[in-house]
Amino acid sequence: MSEEEASLSCHFLLILSLILITGQAITAKDSPQNDKKVLLQLKHFLQNNNLIYRGSYAQWNESETSPCNWLGIGCSADGRVTHVDLSASSISGAIFPSFSLLTELAYLDLSANTIGGRIPSDLNNCVNLRYLNLSLNLLDGELNLTGLNKLETLDLGMNQFFGEIRSNFPAICQNLVTLNISTNNLTGEITGCFDQCPKLQYLDLRLNQFYGEIWDGFSKLREFVASDNNFTGEFFAESFRSDCGLEILELSTNSFDGVFPDSIANCSKLNHVSLWENSFTGRVPSGIGSLSQLEILILGKNSFDRDIPSELLNCSKLVFLDVGENNFGGEIQQIFGNFTTLRNLVLHTNQYTSGMESSGILKLPHLAGLDLSYNNFTGNLPVQINYMPSLKYLILAYNNFNGSIPPEYGNITGLQALDLSFNELTGSIPPTIGNLKSLLWLMLDNNSLTGEIPPEIGNCSSLLWLNLTNNRLTGKIPPEISGIGGDPVPTIETNRRDSLIAGFGDCLAVKRWIPDSYPPFSFVYVLMTRKNCQIIWGQLLKGHGLLPKFLNSNSPLQLLAISGNQLSGEVPPEIGRMRNLSLVYLNLNRLSGRLPPEIARLPLIVLNVSSNSFSGPIPPELGGIQCLQKLDLSCNNFSGEFPESLNRLTDLSKFNVSFNPLLSGVIPVTGQMATFDNDSFLGDPLISFSDARANPSPKTDGPISGHQKDSPRRGAFYVFLSLTVSFFLGLLGGFLVTFFLKKMIKIILRL
Ligand SMILES: *[C@@H]1O[C@H](CO)[C@@H](O)[C@H](O)[C@H]1NC(C)=O
Ligand SMILES: *[C@@H]1O[C@H](CO)[C@@H](O)[C@H](O)[C@H]1NC(C)=O
Ligand SMILES: *[C@@H]1O[C@H](CO)[C@@H](O)[C@H](O)[C@H]1NC(C)=O
Ligand SMILES: *[C@@H]1O[C@H](CO)[C@@H](O)[C@H](O)[C@H]1NC(C)=O
Ligand SMILES: *[C@@H]1O[C@H](CO)[C@@H](O)[C@H](O)[C@H]1NC(C)=O
Ligand SMILES: *[C@@H]1O[C@H](CO)[C@@H](O)[C@H](O)[C@H]1NC(C)=O
Ligand SMILES: *[C@@H]1O[C@H](CO)[C@@H](O)[C@H](O)[C@H]1NC(C)=O
Ligand SMILES: *[C@@H]1O[C@H](CO)[C@@H](O)[C@H](O)[C@H]1NC(C)=O
Ligand SMILES: *[C@@H]1O[C@H](CO)[C@@H](O)[C@H](O)[C@H]1NC(C)=O
Ligand SMILES: *[C@@H]1O[C@H](CO)[C@@H](O)[C@H](O)[C@H]1NC(C)=O
Ligand SMILES: *[C@@H]1O[C@H](CO)[C@@H](O)[C@H](O)[C@H]1NC(C)=O
Ligand SMILES: *[C@@H]1O[C@H](CO)[C@@H](O)[C@H](O)[C@H]1NC(C)=O
Repeated sequence: MSEEEASLSCHFLLILSLILITGQAITAKDSPQNDKKVLLQLKHFLQNNNLIYRGSYAQWNESETSPCNWLGIGCSADGRVTHVDLSASSISGAIFPSFSLLTELAYLDLSANTIGGRIPSDLNNCVNLRYLNLSLNLLDGELNLTGLNKLETLDLGMNQFFGEIRSNFPAICQNLVTLNISTNNLTGEITGCFDQCPKLQYLDLRLNQFYGEIWDGFSKLREFVASDNNFTGEFFAESFRSDCGLEILELSTNSFDGVFPDSIANCSKLNHVSLWENSFTGRVPSGIGSLSQLEILILGKNSFDRDIPSELLNCSKLVFLDVGENNFGGEIQQIFGNFTTLRNLVLHTNQYTSGMESSGILKLPHLAGLDLSYNNFTGNLPVQINYMPSLKYLILAYNNFNGSIPPEYGNITGLQALDLSFNELTGSIPPTIGNLKSLLWLMLDNNSLTGEIPPEIGNCSSLLWLNLTNNRLTGKIPPEISGIGGDPVPTIETNRRDSLIAGFGDCLAVKRWIPDSYPPFSFVYVLMTRKNCQIIWGQLLKGHGLLPKFLNSNSPLQLLAISGNQLSGEVPPEIGRMRNLSLVYLNLNRLSGRLPPEIARLPLIVLNVSSNSFSGPIPPELGGIQCLQKLDLSCNNFSGEFPESLNRLTDLSKFNVSFNPLLSGVIPVTGQMATFDNDSFLGDPLISFSDARANPSPKTDGPISGHQKDSPRRGAFYVFLSLTVSFFLGLLGGFLVTFFLKKMIKIILRL
């Protein structure tokens, strides 16, 4: 190469590299190529944080020149990345700290993952964001999104954000239409926060710890949800302005008080009003009568006057009315019999003593759900109920009804739930009950019913939840019982088609029907709010499954609780035919003979046969029940060798075989049985333990060593449960599982 040539090529190289450098400087900021590079960084970031489960981002194909066809990615006409949707992509770890490099990013959805930690300050630089959805994650920290002033939609629901929100407003308010910060741990006052949000339409503050007065501008919104906080103060005539645009007003579970104003009449578009669980007093506002679009009105758990204004009868679309827990007393108000459009009427916990028939509520033509539980009704159950054409859910629990169950109730063929528990009913269960082919729930527990379980009950082909606990039933368990719940599909399918399966007013019934001893619910139970309960109730009516190992099969869960009676004889082996039966309580009866091995064919989660007179061997087949979590065989006369097979019950967390004095054998040191302490084997003198745990004194070593062995497994069990729960509860679960996983991990670490 000559000198000239060399210098020329040098020049050329210099120019070339200059072009490259400047070119790159352009790429580095605002180009489709750079967007692709950032997305690849994002992909690697996500892959590093998520080694096992990965969402569709894992398929982003680096060889494609443009990322615009990648799953979850959207671009503008000139090829710039504007949309990133990574919702429900199994992402954990932190938020990607460089989203702001996608300078045209307008839409970012990271919802429904398990992303944790704080929002990186980088996100504040995504100044073009109009849609940001971080809901259903584990994010925490205080909110500072002050850079995002083009936001139209901000959804931060179901995270763990805390602190006040004031510093964000009005900074992000100018374009905001939807703000959802529900289900966090936010606090402070909100007055004035949203004054300068001219476009705000949907505001959801549910389930936080906000307090103080409500924001006085709320009536210009379409949806205002403030439930489950600690707001206080009164509402005044001015609270509902003449330009009120509200469609949904949710004020339940706060500390509001005073007389609610008639000016709510200004909100002519209202469809859903809930004032549940506050301290409102005085008359129910007659202004509600002007709300011609109103379908759902929930006034329960307040201290309203007994006298319900007749103007409310003008609400010609009203289908759901809850005026429970106002302690009205005396007779049911006549007016309730005139709400002819109602499908659900909830009047529980009002100390009513009479008026079921005279008020006319039993003649409401469309009534599908009637809840009169927790009142003081006495006398016979009204036969008139038989003539309610649309009745599906009848809840008369916790009253003082006596006499027998009218055989005529067998005529209410559309009935899906009959709850007569906690009354003083006598006589026998009418065989006509077998006509109720749509019945899913039958709760007759805690009465004084006598006689035998009628074999006809086996014709209740939809019956999934049968509770006859604590009565005086005698005789044998009829083999026909195996027919119950044989084919719930028709009923469940009807429910899946029914858009308005209105939930009950609150958790009372749902909690009674799903006891906390029922494993998948043990955790959710304490956190049940009105809304969750409605979701749960809806899911159960639609038969969505709860069986951990069959989650995808959507099989319903079946319960048979007949404890605390005087039932005798053998358990019919036919019981093994009940394909969905998972929770079986036969305890505290006089059942005898062998426990039929066929019972092990059931997908059992709980089996309690304690305090009977079962004899013979414990069927070794029990060891094959995969999902069994609680097994109580105590206080019987089981004999023979303790079956080794029980060691295979890896999900078992509660086990009791105490007080079976004829039972013999050696409990192995390893395996599932070793996780239970000596309390599980009390009063079994012929049972011995392998050397390692030989005769520990029950008061010192025993429980402690047992507990230590127990804990890791129990931890795993909790995690497993919370997973189960999450699957089932969908939305709610998404939050809970992450919440509980975190909690459980903490507990496990502490142990
Ligand atoms: C990725 O894209 C390239 C180029 O379009 C294509 O040849 C290749 O098959 C793609 N790979 C996969 C896994 O889809
Ligand atoms: C945010 O995402 C969740 C879960 O993906 C979704 O249910 C919710 O509707 C989204 N929020 C908004 C305001 O679009
Ligand atoms: C919020 O973040 C911005 C920078 O993104 C910062 O300037 C501002 O001081 C922060 N505000 C608060 C209240 O922390
Ligand atoms: C938050 O509220 C908005 C508006 O009501 C709603 O569309 C969205 O689905 C809610 N987000 C979650 C996670 O429930
Ligand atoms: C919520 O915040 C309160 C204090 O404001 C704290 O005591 C509580 O533990 C927090 N709850 C959660 C679930 O983080
Ligand atoms: C709610 O606010 C009232 C009045 O400010 C206060 O007395 C009460 O303790 C608060 N309740 C909760 C649960 O924070
Ligand atoms: C409408 O609201 C105004 C206050 O803005 C109130 O004075 C008026 O009484 C309300 N109208 C009705 C019909 O209640
Ligand atoms: C509403 O009800 C009242 C009293 O029941 C009645 O006088 C009035 O005419 C009704 N108003 C409308 C608009 O139907
Ligand atoms: C309720 O209905 C009954 C019978 O249909 C009628 O006599 C009564 O006047 C109505 N009451 C009201 C307040 O409209
Ligand atoms: C209703 O029953 C409850 C509990 O049994 C009792 O405390 C209350 O006094 C009764 N009320 C009336 C009005 O009879
Ligand atoms: C209702 O049931 C009773 C007894 O079970 C029966 O005698 C009667 O004919 C039935 N009535 C109607 C209207 O179906
Ligand atoms: C059945 O009734 C008994 C007694 O009322 C109650 O303790 C139990 O929780 C109920 N079980 C179910 C599954 O509903």
